[in-house]
Amino acid sequence: MQKKVFITRSILPDGAELLRARGYKVDVSELDRPMTYEELKSKAHGYDALITMLNDRIDEAFLKSNSHLKVISNYAVGFNNIDIKMASSLKIPIGNTPDVLTEATAEVALGLMIAASRNFLSAERSGEQGQWKNWHPTEHLGFALSGKTLGVVGFGRIGLRLASMCARAFNMKIIYVANSEKENSLAAIKVELSELLSKSDFISLHLPLNCTTKNMIGKAEFDSMKKNAVLVNTARGEIVDQAALIKALKENTIFAAGLDVTDPEPLPIENELFKLKNAIVLPHIGSATYEARRAMSILAAKNIIAGLEDHELEAWVNKKDLLP
Ligand code: DGY
Repeated sequence: MQKKVFITRSILPDGAELLRARGYKVDVSELDRPMTYEELKSKAHGYDALITMLNDRIDEAFLKSNSHLKVISNYAVGFNNIDIKMASSLKIPIGNTPDVLTEATAEVALGLMIAASRNFLSAERSGEQGQWKNWHPTEHLGFALSGKTLGVVGFGRIGLRLASMCARAFNMKIIYVANSEKENSLAAIKVELSELLSKSDFISLHLPLNCTTKNMIGKAEFDSMKKNAVLVNTARGEIVDQAALIKALKENTIFAAGLDVTDPEPLPIENELFKLKNAIVLPHIGSATYEARRAMSILAAKNIIAGLEDHELEAWVNKKDLLP
């Protein structure tokens, strides 16, 4: 019987084309919003495989009610929305989309470093609001990147790529926090988090969200940062204690923040972060280039094909749980 794949949101069509060319029936959600948990849980009953988005909650109850699924691929590198332990115990392979979005996400992190440290948002707003009266010698002053220290928390693919951009283009000194030393050609030095926080001019987060990283940057961490520090988060909003961040920004404990991720998402319009002059908030666009999103679509589809055909997934999150 023809196998059926459901894609929970309309994504660039390359992946669906690949799946159809392989003979699978592919349906794509026609809703211009994420499906609700209940909608997706019952929809999945009629399919063999799912391509899910980072905001689809694939928890224990979902998986138990859909234990027939042959494979799920998240259309994201992060997979904190999926209960991996439960998927493994039900023998459902889970795929994700690493590597293909590294460049795009590192570019957004770099963009946020510049935008936050050079006051792009408040400077642009002042023009829009009619406050651009003349060239001003002391307004909108920010901090240069060149020659400064970048602290990368989580030195995986994206953190390393950002570090390389900053070391090469801005002659920045790189320090990082990771579980082990990572070989690199940037003279980047592994340090403890406390040292990174107190020495960095820019701090960029590149960690997965899990129970050890949730709220790992809170009041004590902000208090130990430099006054000129710029915090950039392109990983997951929940890694930062957002109330503590807002307080640190309001009290100028740190200089600014550039966020591509927040807690929750979407961030409600009345959230204080949108009102602060020293915070720039993007709507989770780290991987939003045509190149990355096309490649993610293809990689997610390849994961599905592999899962349906009993092969190893190209990007397989729970490989070590499922391979003998
Ligand atoms: C991911 O893929 O996990 C990223 O957050 C997308 O920007």
